[in-house]
Amino acid sequence: MLGSMAFLAMVAHETDGGVALVREEVGDDFLGPGTVTIRVHFSSANYKDLLAITPGGGVVRDYPIIPGIDITGEVVESQDAQFAPGDQVVAHGYGIGVSQNGGFAELARVPAEWVVKLDGLTTREAAALGTAGFTAAMSVQALLDRGLTPGTGPVLVTGATGGVGTVAVDILAGQGFEVVASTGKAGAGELLSALGAKTIIGRLPEDPDAKPRPLGKARWAGAVDSVGGKSLAHVLSTIEYGGAAAVSGLTGGSGLPTTVLPFILRGVSLLGIDSVQFPIAARRELWARLGNELKPRHLSLLENYAPITEAESVLNAIRAGNHSGRTVLGVAGEF
Ligand SMILES: NC(=O)c1ccc[n+]([C@@H]2O[C@H](COP(=O)([O-])OP(=O)(O)OC[C@H]3O[C@@H](n4cnc5c(N)ncnc54)[C@H](OP(=O)(O)O)[C@@H]3O)[C@@H](O)[C@H]2O)c1
Repeated sequence: MLGSMAFLAMVAHETDGGVALVREEVGDDFLGPGTVTIRVHFSSANYKDLLAITPGGGVVRDYPIIPGIDITGEVVESQDAQFAPGDQVVAHGYGIGVSQNGGFAELARVPAEWVVKLDGLTTREAAALGTAGFTAAMSVQALLDRGLTPGTGPVLVTGATGGVGTVAVDILAGQGFEVVASTGKAGAGELLSALGAKTIIGRLPEDPDAKPRPLGKARWAGAVDSVGGKSLAHVLSTIEYGGAAAVSGLTGGSGLPTTVLPFILRGVSLLGIDSVQFPIAARRELWARLGNELKPRHLSLLENYAPITEAESVLNAIRAGNHSGRTVLGVAGEF
């Protein structure tokens, strides 16, 4: 058993009308409940981490908390026979970084049932993927399970420069799909083409003020959508007969102003993607696929790096819409 210890962390505190992220030394009362203690190598910056440091963000109920929904690193102690010191692991989802202390700290402790041993990925690569990359993999896997193949037709990725979007483009192109990337960022074409997108289009619908049509010209066999809102309604109305959209996010809004027509006239499926409660056995299996046959080919292109002490400015770039790809937050040796 590790003795009592002090370690460095970025702690989110509620202040008068705000949330402050403060570098501080904490004690083992900041280790969450659990059986596996991890020396954190890397965390990463996700939209949900931004919400965790945003007043009224709706994901954290009790402060103070160490944010960081992604943890990658090395096991230093385990009371569970599945893990031993030295194991390289990733843990994300469940309560990590929202109801239990997360990855913005030198140490993290979580239940063994939340931990995945890495296969085919370094701890840095696993952090470059993180929750967003895993969600992209879940989305692609859902389309594959639904029977989509590269021969079925083009696949649309919305929010294409985002974390989910960039990894989805990279995985789909690697699997031989023709990828159409939808982005609101002028100048993102070079990155998206390098990741394997064949066509780059603007945000959808093309005319945001036009009255939504229940059905439009069918353009894609499938879609990976992390935007939601009017954009997703447009996507559903333009999917080909028998196609599917894997839906994970709400950066464009949580409403869905659609009709049943795409479902009942074109047999379109809406595939819900939730990485948070996704069961551990399937989670471990998909991480192994993500490190091997589904491994994105251009992680180094979509990855940025910042030390953990700069987490707040990276998250603010996400808030301002100035962020592309995935940012790994270096923890070990960076406090
Ligand atoms: N279901 C799950 O388990 C799960 C897991 C991870 C993430 N998510 C959700 O998925 C979404 C994306 O996460 P992420 O980590 O990829 O976030 P992100 O890195 O911030 O990317 C989101 C992308 O959405 C696009 N976007 C931003 N504002 C928009 C707007 N107003 N209208 C249309 N598009 C907009 C932007 O892409 P362009 O500039 O290229 O258009 C942006 O890069 C979030 O809502 C997140 O909460 C869900």
